[in-house]
Amino acid sequence: MVNELHPSDKKFPKTLSSLMLYFLKPYTFLIWVGILCSMASGLYGVVNSNLLKLIIDSLERVPSSNNIASAVFWPALFFIINFEIHNLSWRGIGYINKKIQPYIKNKVIRETFSYVISHSHQFFQENLSGKISNNINILANNMEESIHDISPHIIRGAVLLIGALISMYFVRPIFFYGFAVWAFFFFLISWLFSKKIVRLADTYAESESLVSGQLVDSVSNSQNIRLFSRSAYESSYILKALEIMKNKFQQKQWFLIKLHLIQGFSQTLMLSFMMYTLIRLRTLGLVTIGDFALILGLSIEVGFTIWYVTEQIDNLNNAVGKCNQSIRSLFKSVGIQDQPNATPLHITKGEIIFDNVTFHYREAIPLFQNLSVTIEGGSKVGLVGYSGCGKTTFANLILRLFDINEGKILIDKQIVKVITQDSLRNAVGMIPQDPSLYHRSLTDNIRYGCLDATDEAVIEAAKRAHAHEFISKLPEGYDSLVGERGIKLSGGQRQRIAIARATLKNAPILILDEATSQLDSVTESLIQESLWEIMKGKTSLVIAHRLSTLLHMDRILVFENGKIVEDGTHHELLKKEGLYKTLWEAQVGGFLPNKPL
Ligand SMILES: Nc1ncnc2c1ncn2[C@@H]1O[C@H](COP(=O)(O)OP(=O)(O)O)[C@@H](O)[C@H]1O
Ligand SMILES: [Mg+2]
Repeated sequence: MVNELHPSDKKFPKTLSSLMLYFLKPYTFLIWVGILCSMASGLYGVVNSNLLKLIIDSLERVPSSNNIASAVFWPALFFIINFEIHNLSWRGIGYINKKIQPYIKNKVIRETFSYVISHSHQFFQENLSGKISNNINILANNMEESIHDISPHIIRGAVLLIGALISMYFVRPIFFYGFAVWAFFFFLISWLFSKKIVRLADTYAESESLVSGQLVDSVSNSQNIRLFSRSAYESSYILKALEIMKNKFQQKQWFLIKLHLIQGFSQTLMLSFMMYTLIRLRTLGLVTIGDFALILGLSIEVGFTIWYVTEQIDNLNNAVGKCNQSIRSLFKSVGIQDQPNATPLHITKGEIIFDNVTFHYREAIPLFQNLSVTIEGGSKVGLVGYSGCGKTTFANLILRLFDINEGKILIDKQIVKVITQDSLRNAVGMIPQDPSLYHRSLTDNIRYGCLDATDEAVIEAAKRAHAHEFISKLPEGYDSLVGERGIKLSGGQRQRIAIARATLKNAPILILDEATSQLDSVTESLIQESLWEIMKGKTSLVIAHRLSTLLHMDRILVFENGKIVEDGTHHELLKKEGLYKTLWEAQVGGFLPNKPL
């Protein structure tokens, strides 16, 4: 973990080049060795052609067949040694890749993950989870590919080109000028077109990401597909995105074909020039047969290498396009961050104050406007109201899952916005409306509330949440895996695991958001007793699904359209003949109606 930037650190690199530098920095030495190996392999082609020239020229010069061996001995020996150097340099690159590749990939995934996970609640509500994880993988894979597979070829090509130019100069400057002019135009064309290629690769990557996002959305809603027999509809729904992806791919490929045609033709022109000049100079006796072999050999070798390199540049552009696309979607600003001077929350009584709080999701009409309420430390407060009146939002604001627009929220006189988020969330145990579980064992899921809890403590918490009974009946008991988000459990079972988890957490403030809504009334009343136990000595907010669970609360806050319209105990509120009374009387079998009657 040394040398790692904290997600909230403003210095966290957010462009591809700074990310690359950041991730490569610890391996600077090995990267330089890799660059040297790539350069050595580029030199191989140049040295090879020059040795060939020397061998041919020596053969041409030696008068008798007896002297051949001594005439070509050194160039022949170096010819072989040169090949071995080439072999070793590529193996060197392979060795360096083996050494650092997995570390870099792991580091990219780990740090990108911890950055992304620090995004605000809203980010995850607005982005599909499959798309997010896909983008992390795309970033890691393409950064890895650019570094390990593509760059060595580009470095090798560059060295080969420079070496070839120098060799040609020493044969006859005309070859140098001819080749340099060709190379200049070749790269100029490639460079002029590269911006467009990056753009095309970028939009193609975007369309790929759209397809994978839709696939994830469909797969995660597979239950709906079955319930509504919509498999045909779902497969046609994705057609539009697939069509866009196909078009983007074809646009990109068509552009590449045109570019390669131009590049290929320029190469034909260059070879024609070389051939013509060689023949003319040979006629004048100005070049040797060895020069002939050298110039043609280099032109072909460099020509092919540049072909390959431009393909690698295309791949690099593709990879850069994909990385940029991922970076754009992952590295948005984190949203809610700890302030630089944030201090940990220090709980004394557990008092919560909303002081003139105004809050809206997006720019729409405010949900809460100048809302003020004080919840005394250690008190048990029920929140009731029709669905959509803002109860869950009220709880989420205490946890600072969203930042408020105006006013202050204080816990024990400390402003929620200026304390660290970790300390705040450690102090609050929340059982959300629809708890989700990890696809891990039940023990791990319960232990999430307190990572160093013993197995006995986990079982004790499960007993208090009345989860032990059903867990014991599972074939694998506490080791059972519960499926994605806990899908293999019933809603009520999931809620009981969430209660057990919160019990273990044992935080001084407890928020139950319809925590028992999916339980039958018998189990609910059993759990109610445990919940009373758990709430002892804590500030507790209970968002109720059944008003009967609130009878013994110290106080009940009645919400209507983001306002607290009534405030008092059950008996006081019943006397008021207001909304609470309406709700109480409207309860059928103890349940709240969903909307005004
Ligand atoms: N993430 C969100 N983005 C935009 N609007 C939201 C979001 N969450 C809730 N809302 C809206 O805010 C209002 C209050 O929601 P909520 O607090 O969940 O109500 P309750 O828990 O009382 O049923 C609703 O109109 C709901 O549609
Ligand atoms: Mg709610």
